[in-house]
Amino acid sequence: MAAMDGKRLIVGITGATGSVYGVRLLELLQGSQVETHLVMSKWGGRTLVHETPYTLEQIKQMATCTYPESDQGAAISSGSFLTNGMVVIPCSVRTLSAIAHGHGDHLIHRAADVILKERRKLVLVVREAPLNDIHLENMLKLSRMGVVIIPPVPAFYNHPRTIDDIVNQTVMRVLDQFDIHTDVVRRWQGVMSVHGTPAQS
Ligand SMILES: Cc1cc2nc3c(=O)[nH]c(=O)nc-3n(C[C@H](O)[C@H](O)[C@H](O)COP(=O)(O)O)c2cc1C
Repeated sequence: MAAMDGKRLIVGITGATGSVYGVRLLELLQGSQVETHLVMSKWGGRTLVHETPYTLEQIKQMATCTYPESDQGAAISSGSFLTNGMVVIPCSVRTLSAIAHGHGDHLIHRAADVILKERRKLVLVVREAPLNDIHLENMLKLSRMGVVIIPPVPAFYNHPRTIDDIVNQTVMRVLDQFDIHTDVVRRWQGVMSVHGTPAQS
């Protein structure tokens, strides 16, 4: 029997704004029991360098394995390579469309297609605004197939003070989908505050 003691997650980073979400996810999983198999699209890499202080090399170091987007022969291109699922974070509407229509233009698209055919968990952190009918229809189509769509929309009920707080909240909720619980942000305990003052615990 194939051994897979810890979890194994495929992580796609595409060219939507919000590369920091993908970076934070890798940072949180670095050194954990969770193997991360990273593919960054060409525009994922370009946007990351534009938006964050990281180099592509630094991001690759955070993952357990990395693959070029052109490597259609990579392990994650096959369903026989066992994984607990895949997250695309952030997910551009181009990649959303490619996944919804079964195109395998690059390895992120192919790996997602494999996840779908194997009925494994796929989470897409789709980032675009405003959304047109094509985007909405693609999301609905995939949602009906069991794909979890989590746009990186901030929540304010936990009184975020920094961009880090906002990023951590979304990434924590994404990891929850894979039963990876980080508690990097205080979870909602049902205690309401008044006038925006956080309730004391
Ligand atoms: C700075 C920057 C920000 C972008 N933001 C978005 C975005 O929020 N959502 C999106 O769908 N595309 C966005 N794009 C466009 C994508 O990068 C482009 O469509 C690309 O072809 C996506 O390909 P990929 O899915 O293979 O990464 C952005 C591009 C740049 C340069």
